[in-house]
Amino acid sequence: MITIDPKNTSVPEVHHTMLGSIGPRPIAFASTIDKEGKINLSPFSFFNAFGANPATLVFSPSRRGRDNTTKNTFDNIKEIPEVVINVVTYSMVEQASLASTEYPKGVNEFIKAGFTAIPSEVIRPPRVKESPVQMECKVMNIIETGNMGGAGNLVICEILKIHLNEDIFDSNGSIDPHKIDLVGRLGGDFYCRASGEAVFTVEKPLQKLGIGIDQLPDKIKNSKLLTGNDLGKLGNLENLPSADDIKTFKKEFSENLSAEIKKENIVLTSKEFLAKNEVERALLLLMSYL
Ligand SMILES: Cc1cc2nc3c(=O)[nH]c(=O)nc-3n(C[C@H](O)[C@H](O)[C@H](O)COP(=O)(O)O)c2cc1C
Repeated sequence: MITIDPKNTSVPEVHHTMLGSIGPRPIAFASTIDKEGKINLSPFSFFNAFGANPATLVFSPSRRGRDNTTKNTFDNIKEIPEVVINVVTYSMVEQASLASTEYPKGVNEFIKAGFTAIPSEVIRPPRVKESPVQMECKVMNIIETGNMGGAGNLVICEILKIHLNEDIFDSNGSIDPHKIDLVGRLGGDFYCRASGEAVFTVEKPLQKLGIGIDQLPDKIKNSKLLTGNDLGKLGNLENLPSADDIKTFKKEFSENLSAEIKKENIVLTSKEFLAKNEVERALLLLMSYL
């Protein structure tokens, strides 16, 4: 392992390492306004949601590493503590990147990057029409983590209004990741697209108390073929199967099971069950025949 001590490492290297490691990061496309009414639009991936009551998000227009100057977004927020945070989707990512160009203060990146400004309902900065989710926010607090180049400025915002495009919902009324098609920021010039085959589900262990990997039989825990993810799914089951469950399963399963089936095939078949989220069946198979 390589170990970095941020205090004894150059700021660009620490920054580069953090950006490559902490990701994918959501992107806040921040629309702000200065006291003269001049509009600014810039993307920020030091961004996340931090609470739902009150609805809170935080993003950070940092001090520039190269000359320790502050960004227009930060200066605007100090003048007018209001911001619209628009989400960034795949269809708008190139334009959003263009809006990150370091234009001088007063240049409107809605115009430069070709976005449509639409009025907000309760704050002064406009929303980005092309973004499917636009959050009107008031700035509650700013925490400056330092006064040197590269320091963060945590802009803590309360969301006052959330505007959502109807097209992003599934039939149950939830936001469908394939329809909203968000992008995330990685290190360097890398981004990722949060739709299609990249998206998968992991069952929330909220309603139930999983047995934990430690309770699985040793021959399962020590299998060279089962991965950490496989064991994680099995450990999320609430109970080990009883002797009766195993007996019934063996009876039903043996009709399709060759007498010479190898232990290896048992594990591979159980992995197929796990991939289909048939977790109980996978554990029954492993406990019956491994
Ligand atoms: C996708 C993306 C994410 C970015 N994230 C950040 C960030 O979290 N913090 C930051 O200070 N700059 C970030 N930048 C760079 C700013 O967008 C850039 O410095 C911009 O010119 C700032 O604009 P402003 O001075 O008009 O506020 C990011 C750029 C891109 C393209």
